Amino acid sequence: MSARYCVIGNPIAHSKSPQIHAAFAAQTGHDLVYERCLAPLDAFDATVRGLIAQGYCGANVTVPFKLEAAALATRLAPRARAAGAVNTLVFADGEIVGDNTDGAGLVADIVRNAGVSLADKRILLLGAGGAARGALLPLLEQGPRQIVIANRTLATAERLAAGFPAHGGRLAVCGFHGLEGGFDVVVNATSASLAADLPPVPATVFGPGALALDMMYGERPTVFMDFAVRHGARARDGLGMLVEQAAEAFLLWRGVRPDTAALLASLRQA
Ligand code: ATR
Repeated sequence: MSARYCVIGNPIAHSKSPQIHAAFAAQTGHDLVYERCLAPLDAFDATVRGLIAQGYCGANVTVPFKLEAAALATRLAPRARAAGAVNTLVFADGEIVGDNTDGAGLVADIVRNAGVSLADKRILLLGAGGAARGALLPLLEQGPRQIVIANRTLATAERLAAGFPAHGGRLAVCGFHGLEGGFDVVVNATSASLAADLPPVPATVFGPGALALDMMYGERPTVFMDFAVRHGARARDGLGMLVEQAAEAFLLWRGVRPDTAALLASLRQA
């Protein structure tokens, strides 16, 4: 029987994950099925336990259940603990292992797909919610010179940075208007793009040859990407991050990391 996986969310109809994992399975020759699972808003735990009872091997978790997934896990990977959120569950030997591949996906998209090393770079992380939290440890592990976390609500950025005391010397927090100097990489981890909104950062944040990455994606570039390009930056949307976080999840489940280049190109064309 095929190994079974799914992505749990609410809503879930829009998810591209089944298409991505079907492509990975075909490429690697793995016999698996990957479905969408709509969990009732008040029944995430029961949904997961039902999947385990049916013999599922693992699941991805998306909005709004990533925090509940972290609470439900019987064991957390260090990067999931740092994120305080789980996007990948592995069901094995009676355990529910919670991991978070979002940050690794972001780093893979920047380093492998965009060809930008993060070592010794100055990085600006916009936002301090769940998306930013998931990105911070994997970004720090790349050895940047500095990461500045800028958020509309400064106290939230301060709380996020305080969770990484070992990296204090390389972490700074700031409001959007107080940002000074240019950055090599600017990551928009706010949810502003969902409302076609732009975090009010000065255009000077984009240093020479800067890469600007918005974690959101859609049919058109986001307002943040348009803003970045107008001020000399190279812009990427979150589609590459989506594919790369899926590849990291596939690696956890199946022990092999699929090649992502062809799939990413075909998703972009579509
Ligand atoms: P997510 O899981 O997507 O990170 P979240 O945890 O609700 O969602 O966090 C949303 C982030 O986007 C926060 O950093 C939020 O800023 P506040 O902490 O000040 O709320 C930020 N955000 C949302 N809308 C924004 C907007 N219009 N402009 C700037 N920042 C915005």
